[in-house]
Amino acid sequence: MILLTGGAGYIGSHIAVALLDAGLDVVAVDNLSNSNSTSLERIRAICGRSVIFRHADIRNEEAIYQILRAHDVTAVIHLAGLKAVGESSAQPMTYYDNNVVGTMRLVSAMTRAAVKTLVFSSSATVYGTPAYLPLDEKHPVAPINPYGRTKYFIEEILKDLHGSDKDWRIAILRYFNPVGAHESGLIGEDPLDVPNNLLPIVAQVAIGRRPKVHVWGNDYDTPDGTGIRDYIHVVDLASGHLSALSQLRQPGLLTVNLGTGSGSSVMDVIQTFKEVSGRPVPYVIDQRRVGDVAICYADPTLAKNLLGWTSKRSLTQMCADHWHFQMKNPNGYRGA
Ligand code: NAD
Ligand code: WQD
Repeated sequence: MILLTGGAGYIGSHIAVALLDAGLDVVAVDNLSNSNSTSLERIRAICGRSVIFRHADIRNEEAIYQILRAHDVTAVIHLAGLKAVGESSAQPMTYYDNNVVGTMRLVSAMTRAAVKTLVFSSSATVYGTPAYLPLDEKHPVAPINPYGRTKYFIEEILKDLHGSDKDWRIAILRYFNPVGAHESGLIGEDPLDVPNNLLPIVAQVAIGRRPKVHVWGNDYDTPDGTGIRDYIHVVDLASGHLSALSQLRQPGLLTVNLGTGSGSSVMDVIQTFKEVSGRPVPYVIDQRRVGDVAICYADPTLAKNLLGWTSKRSLTQMCADHWHFQMKNPNGYRGA
């Protein structure tokens, strides 16, 4: 049995499907602070069987310990956390408590239950401003906001944990920019608030929920002047977790990028979305957003060599699947 924290969320629901499809059993823990239990019903519709759901907070060590014991958990995939960069600057203590303290409580519960296999969702945001590209795992880490620092501190805590007890098997996965949705259109990204990320905004503009995309700067040193990112299909990202779990059959600690290795600009995304949706995507050029870098993309070589994993899906597929979910769920899960 795999314990999946944050299992009702965007990436967690796709990992749940990948685990169930691989024949594994899943207990999902989520406090539903940024998600909706409808995603869990949709997982059942896709897979024909359910995850076990426990409504709990990862900071509740006793509750997590009981869940680990009751379900005979052998490994944990840990996604639960807060992820809004701007909010993390306004409420850093909330972020440190939820993400860092939450992970420490989870690890304590795992230690008590003698479950010592952990896959952790980190982020390319730990690299901060790139000193060179593509970003490989040896690139220095220097996060530039409290959210990024929560990921960095957790990485360091996990390294110390592994240093103190080599029985731990830990995979730190640094995601680049996850987008898209399951091909069924039943699960996808459903931001509860105004979205911050590009793809949900573009999708909401295409469907008419917002008037236009604000393109944050077209004066970067890139071919079309707009920011370049390594967008990765969430289904490819999910399969990377299965590869990491397989690798953890051997002891060790690994830190691996999950990205495609190629970058797309904001204008590439808008143009591709327009083509796959057949809808207009009006935009306006605005000031640069504070804290944005010009270009960020992964060197995915280590994931290929170590995990045997590569991403497969194109930007067109990412936009098409994102649009499919948006069309089927114009108001997200709330319309369900
Ligand atoms: P999400 O908000 O959809 O999922 C996170 C889930 O964790 C939510 O369902 C939320 O309710 C739950 N949660 C939060 N705090 C909790 C707590 N204390 N106890 C129990 N449950 C809690 O976000 P996501 O995009 O699916 O991200 C999943 C993970 O991946 C996060 O850790 C995030 O930092 C990381 N990540 C995301 C991105 C991205 O762009 N989406 C990129 C890099 C890394
Ligand atoms: C992508 C590009 C924007 C919105 C963030 C977090 C990072 C990680 C992934 C969790 C940039 C441009 C965006 C808009 C725009 N999350 N943009 N108009 O900033 O690369 O990364 O999400 O770990 O930590 O920082 O992603 O989707 O916000 O932006 O022009 O309305 O789209 O400037 O070039 P980002 P994003």
